[in-house]
Amino acid sequence: MVKKAIIPAAGYGTRGLPITKVLPKEMFPIGLKPAIHYVVEEAIESGIEQILMIVSKRKNMIVDYFDESLELEAFLERENKQHLIPIVPVPTIPIHYIRQPYAKGLGDAIRLGKSFIGDEPFAVLLPDDIMLSNKEPALKQLVDQFKKYKKTIIGIKEVEESKLKHYGVISGEEISKGLFKLNNIVEKPSNNAPSNFAVTGRYIFTPEILSILELINASEKGELQLTDAIRDMIFREVCYGKVVNSRRFDIGLNQDYVNLINEFNNPNFGNHD
Ligand code: G1P
Repeated sequence: MVKKAIIPAAGYGTRGLPITKVLPKEMFPIGLKPAIHYVVEEAIESGIEQILMIVSKRKNMIVDYFDESLELEAFLERENKQHLIPIVPVPTIPIHYIRQPYAKGLGDAIRLGKSFIGDEPFAVLLPDDIMLSNKEPALKQLVDQFKKYKKTIIGIKEVEESKLKHYGVISGEEISKGLFKLNNIVEKPSNNAPSNFAVTGRYIFTPEILSILELINASEKGELQLTDAIRDMIFREVCYGKVVNSRRFDIGLNQDYVNLINEFNNPNFGNHD
């Protein structure tokens, strides 16, 4: 029922400078795979059948990574290294691409997916959040909840007070364990955060969010904030926040990236919720 996903990967990645000048943060290695590979796998394991990636001029590496490489395959065959061919990633579902010409924010990136989405519910996965799950992938947990309520659902996680300033923070009424009926959302509060529950980069939206994105105003910096559209949505119809039972690593934060690499080097990689 949720078959399409948007993965916005157009940002400058300023928190990762200087390396992000040449290496998009979505391509940061985790073992021998780039971060975005894990996010695409999570989407596929959650039942997504088509992905739209929003890229930008500096992100051709991502497009190349998921494309076939006939030249490399021919080389591996010539060298009798055919056994390596299956590990070279080729898309098992269609991946489409749109370039975001100007860095006008996450809301603008999602808005570019309007004709791809049409009139269906859809998922959004932010590729700087890597979610490790023992059982269900993080997005699948939201998809299952969506089947029941058919309303917008946002993945949330409790974070330490000091980290709330990096995220969207929700407030709402807990209607069952870990499930909140939202009544507000604030983007990156520097103080007085409405709760300790921060938005992870996993969302399921009803298509109405796209109409709202057409109506809201850009911020002072000229960016369309997804969080502003979500707030309007919360005022119009019921939206939920669901605590995802997965460990979240925000690779935009250097320490989280280092923790993720350490986790990967641990022989029980991924074996915890
Ligand atoms: C975005 C969203 C924020 C969310 C975060 C999750 O922020 O605007 O609400 O909590 O992703 O990673 P960004 O990381 O693009 O600054």
